[in-house]
Amino acid sequence: MASSSRRYRLVVAPVAELADQLAARLLEEVLGTRPRPLGLATGVTMEPLYAALARRVAALTDPQRRLLRQSWCSFNLDEYVGLGPEDPASFTATMARLLRLPLGLDPGGVHCPDGLAPDPEAEAQRYRLSLAAAGGLGLQVLGLGLNGHVGFNEPPCGPEASTRLIALTEATRRQNAAGFDGQAAAVPAQAITLGLAEILSARQLVLLVTGEAKAGILARALVQPPTPDVPASWLQRHPDLLVLADPAAAAGLI
Ligand code: GLP
Repeated sequence: MASSSRRYRLVVAPVAELADQLAARLLEEVLGTRPRPLGLATGVTMEPLYAALARRVAALTDPQRRLLRQSWCSFNLDEYVGLGPEDPASFTATMARLLRLPLGLDPGGVHCPDGLAPDPEAEAQRYRLSLAAAGGLGLQVLGLGLNGHVGFNEPPCGPEASTRLIALTEATRRQNAAGFDGQAAAVPAQAITLGLAEILSARQLVLLVTGEAKAGILARALVQPPTPDVPASWLQRHPDLLVLADPAAAAGLI
């Protein structure tokens, strides 16, 4: 279902359908003629997407799979400070498990900030420059935090915020406790995140939101004027924003 009165496009469909559509779009982007780095996200919402992508890649021909592996370049949104690739709760390890290994990708093509860098501020700048050197973001996939964050751009946050070291809010540490045996206190207190500035510079944004719990914050992000209290609300300013929501998450929009 698409809307004409809004600036963004909205597709409402069951999760499996959204995941498969988006997986097809990602492949088109990587195998297309104007490939730019993909921006990828972690979180429970993204798991059906990566599963759908693995299924689609398994169905490619050998030459297509080779081309995919040669062309692949993705930058993840964020990483916890203090966690390295050996830690299963790190986003680097999560992306290896859900994406890099199933698709047989070269580790050099799947970028994440280094959570173990001795100077996280400097690491944030290195990551920002390495994305810029790779051409900036093509298609950026985003999830939505319950407090309205995208990546780890925690509220309050304006559209000019750049890639940086950030302190996570208590709400976010509670939201992400599942990856840490349910212990919010075990969730790292800081992260490195791409900024809203880099996210808003992507050629296209796709916001994937599922589940009843996100309906309220999705409506706040898209229905009211942009505000620093809801970082995702700045996405409304992007000229090419596609919102993919299941019926439960879209309840406040339709
Ligand atoms: C996380 C990530 C975001 C993600 C969001 C939603 O903390 N930093 O990139 O989109 O929160 O996560 P979930 O899909 O688990 O609800």
